[in-house]
Amino acid sequence: MCDSLEFVRITNQLLTEKMLLRIVPELASGGCTRAGVPVRVQLLGSDPVCLAENAAFIASLGAPGIDLNFGCPSPTVNRHGGGAVLLQFPEQIHAIVAATRRAVPKHIPVTAKMRLGLSDTSLTLDCARAIEAGGADEITVHARTRSDGYRPPARWEWFAQIRETVKLPMVVNGEVWTPEDSQNIRRISGCTDVMIGRGVIIRPDLMRRIKSGDEAMIWTELLPWVIDYYNQLCVRMDPKHAPGRLKQWLGMMRTAYPEAETLYRILRTEREPAAVGKMLAA
Ligand SMILES: Cc1cc2nc3c(=O)[nH]c(=O)nc-3n(C[C@H](O)[C@H](O)[C@H](O)COP(=O)(O)O)c2cc1C
Repeated sequence: MCDSLEFVRITNQLLTEKMLLRIVPELASGGCTRAGVPVRVQLLGSDPVCLAENAAFIASLGAPGIDLNFGCPSPTVNRHGGGAVLLQFPEQIHAIVAATRRAVPKHIPVTAKMRLGLSDTSLTLDCARAIEAGGADEITVHARTRSDGYRPPARWEWFAQIRETVKLPMVVNGEVWTPEDSQNIRRISGCTDVMIGRGVIIRPDLMRRIKSGDEAMIWTELLPWVIDYYNQLCVRMDPKHAPGRLKQWLGMMRTAYPEAETLYRILRTEREPAAVGKMLAA
């Protein structure tokens, strides 16, 4: 199982400690979540020098690892030359990884996450090789191109070829929703490490079930964590935005838990943070 990631957009300025603590509050507690999960800081940008300088500073603040994003499909990010558009330019990927690796102390891992390509897979292996040659410590592959968006299925058949091409430790990602999917992606890829995105948002106990074979949690067991999340939102952000965030999460969980649907409907029209807190606890 892989660490958690938190992404930071890098432009041409050196971010301040204050800005970084707002985006990655875990930096104030040894780079770990309250549950002790290390949070690597993921950088999104295109300029090797700016990325490297920011990476060095973030490492000095105690980040347990620096990850480089070569997969984000967001049009805004891509317009600024970052994320998945870099998959057209393996040399630039190499330059970014190499500069970042040089700037960050050796004991802190520098890793990279890529999609298979922008609109096709003609440069998939070149990009993976560029990441390895740049000195990355690990590669995560989301088995889709940018054009694939989030449409299923993910192209798991690509993992084996990438694993044979680069010798780096590899994390596989895409369309893991159940413990069975996790077993299947491991078998097909030959990799042991799996990254899960939407699956753990929708079923927050998924990692635990995969790791220990536990039974799925029922809604009444999950609800205290939902309440805790909401309370944290109210402390960490402008409380007026907290109800919206909560509703976003409940909206995603509706596919797995009928009780999330009920709660979503009850809260849908309520915008007042304290009222939402009361309704949650009721
Ligand atoms: C709401 C959301 C936020 C995401 N944020 C990031 C991110 O910051 N960095 C990143 O590399 N991938 C990000 N991803 C992509 C996921 O890490 C993952 O690659 C993708 O969802 C496919 O995996 P899945 O099928 O398990 O969801 C995000 C995905 C979602 C749905």
